Amino acid sequence: MANPFNYDHYCFSCTVLSLLISLHAAATIASQVQANSATTPPLPILPLPSYSQLKWQQREIIMFFHFGVNTFTDSEWGTGQENPAIFNPTVLDAAQWVDTAVQAGVSLVILTAKHHDGFCLWPSKYTDHSVISSPWRNGKGDVVQELVNAANPRGVDVGLYLSPWDRHDPRYGKNKEYNEYYLAQLQELLRKYGSVKEIWFDGAKGSNAPNMTYDFGDWFSLVRELQSSINIFSDAGPDVRWVGNEQGFAGSTCWSTINRTALSIGNASIVGYLNTGDPKGTDWLPPECDVSIRTGWFWHKSQSPKPLHQLLQIYYNSVGRNCVLLLNVPPNPTGLISESDILRLREFRKAVDTVFSSNLAENCSVTASSQRGGKGGGFGPENVVDGDHLWTYWAPSDDDDDKEHHWIEFRASDGPLRFNVVRIQEAIGLGQRIRQHEVYADGKRIASGTTVGHKRLHRLEKGAVHALSVKIKITGSRATPLLSSVGLHFDPFWHPNPNGKPPSKFVH
Ligand SMILES: *[C@@H]1O[C@H](CO)[C@@H](O)[C@H](O)[C@H]1NC(C)=O
Ligand SMILES: *[C@@H]1O[C@H](CO)[C@@H](O)[C@H](O)[C@H]1NC(C)=O
Ligand SMILES: *[C@@H]1O[C@H](CO)[C@@H](O)[C@H](O)[C@H]1NC(C)=O
Ligand SMILES: *[C@@H]1O[C@H](CO)[C@@H](O)[C@H](O)[C@H]1NC(C)=O
Repeated sequence: MANPFNYDHYCFSCTVLSLLISLHAAATIASQVQANSATTPPLPILPLPSYSQLKWQQREIIMFFHFGVNTFTDSEWGTGQENPAIFNPTVLDAAQWVDTAVQAGVSLVILTAKHHDGFCLWPSKYTDHSVISSPWRNGKGDVVQELVNAANPRGVDVGLYLSPWDRHDPRYGKNKEYNEYYLAQLQELLRKYGSVKEIWFDGAKGSNAPNMTYDFGDWFSLVRELQSSINIFSDAGPDVRWVGNEQGFAGSTCWSTINRTALSIGNASIVGYLNTGDPKGTDWLPPECDVSIRTGWFWHKSQSPKPLHQLLQIYYNSVGRNCVLLLNVPPNPTGLISESDILRLREFRKAVDTVFSSNLAENCSVTASSQRGGKGGGFGPENVVDGDHLWTYWAPSDDDDDKEHHWIEFRASDGPLRFNVVRIQEAIGLGQRIRQHEVYADGKRIASGTTVGHKRLHRLEKGAVHALSVKIKITGSRATPLLSSVGLHFDPFWHPNPNGKPPSKFVH
C-alpha cells in the first residue's frame, strides 16, 4: 500500500526540482505563446485614403463662406464689371464667422478668395481689382488674413477657393497669360497665409465665356509643393471629388473609390458616376457635398435659411452616406453672418447632438458570427461600441465558411430598445469593403442598403422600432468586412409618413 507519509522510495528534493523545472518550462512556453499570439490586423484592400484624406473625412461637416462683390449687388454670378467701391462691409468681423463655425461643430472653413467676378478678397500684387481699390479699411484690408487670424487661435483650419473662371481679368482666354496669372495668385495664397487644408477648384463657366485651357496638372503640382497636408478638391480630385450636385445629396450607394482617368473637370456627363463612385475604382477619392444654408451661395435679403428638417435631411444624405458636408453660410453686406443663420445652425447642431450623443447599443451584449483571432484576439464585436470609430473594429474570421453572411448582434440587457436611426461605420483606414447589408430587429428586416464607408445612417422609413435584439448582416463585401462603430439612436425630429415615403417637398 502506498503510504503518503512514507518517503522511502520518494525523492522529495528531486520532485521539487523537477516541478520547478517543469513550471519554468511551462512559463517559458507560455511567454513564447504570448509573444506570438497577438493577432495581426487583416491586410488592407486598395486603394486606401491618404493621411490628409482620413483627417478630412473625420471632420464630417465643414463650412463655406461665399463673400465678395456679389454680396453687395444681390447677385450670384458677378459680371466682372463691378466697381470695387461697392465692397464696403462696415462691421466685418471674421471672428464672428469662425465662432459661428465652431458652434456648429465645424473645424475647417473655406473662403471664396476670388469668385467668377474676379474681385480678390486679399491684396493681390497682380491686379487692382481687389480690396485695395475698395473703401473697406481704406484699401488696407485683407479678408483672407483676417479669417486666418480668427481661425488660428480658435483651432479652426482654413481652406480657399480661387475661381478658375474670371470674368474681369483681360488675360482670361489667353492660355499662357491667364495660367501665369492664376498660378501667381495661387502662390500668393498658398505662401502668405500659413497652413491651408483644402483648396477648391471648380469647372463653373458661362456658356458664352471665352475658350480657355486650364493647366490643372501644373496647378495641382504647385499646390502639392506649397502645402504638404492640403486636400485638393475638384470635379476630378485628386484628393476630394465633387458629389455631382449642389443639393447636398450623395448617392444611396456611395463609394469613396472611383477611376480618376474617367473624370474631367466641368464635364456634365459624369455627375452620376461622381454621385455613386465605383467599387472597382483604382483611386481613393471621396465625395464632398456642397450645399448652401440658403437658396443662393451669396447672401440675399430676400432669402432665409433652410428649415431644420431640411438641414437634417441633408445631413443624413451626405454625412450619413459616407460624405463630408460642405455647408455654405454667407456673410451679409455688413460683414457678419446673419442672426437667422446663426440661430438655425445652433438648432441644427443641437439636433445632431441630441440624436447621436446617446447610443442604445452601448449597454447591449454584443455577439458576432465569428471573430478574427478568437476571443481576446483584439478584433471582437465589443469594439463597435467603444469610443474609437476608426482603428478599433470588429473583424470576422477570414476562415469563416459562410463568407457572405457575417453578422453582429446586439441584445438589450434591460427592456426593449426604442430607436429610429441605425448608424454603421467601416474601418476605412483599411479600405472600403461593404457592398450590401441588412438590419433586423427581433428577426424582422427594418433596413437594407449597399455601401457603408466612413458612416452610413439609416433613418428608419417606418419610424421608431421597439426591439430586444438588433442584427446587422453583411451580405456582400469586397473583402472581409471591418466594422468600427455601430449606433442605435432615437431621432425626435423624424416623423415619417405612414406610407413610408417622405413628403414630396423633401425629394430632390
Ligand atoms: C471655342 O472653341 C471651339 C472649338 O475649338 C469653337 O467651336 C468655339 O467657337 C470657340 N468659342 C469661342 C467663344 O471662341
Ligand atoms: C466627359 O466624360 C466622359 C466620360 O468619362 C468622356 O467620355 C468625355 O470625353 C468627357 N468629355 C470631356 C470634354 O472631357
Ligand atoms: C475602373 O477601373 C477598373 C480597373 O481598371 C475597371 O475594372 C473598372 O471597370 C473601371 N470602372 C469603370 C466604370 O470603367
Ligand atoms: C448605459 O449604462 C450606464 C450605466 O448604467 C448609464 O449611465 C447609461 O446612461 C446607459 N446608456 C444608455 C444609452 O442607456
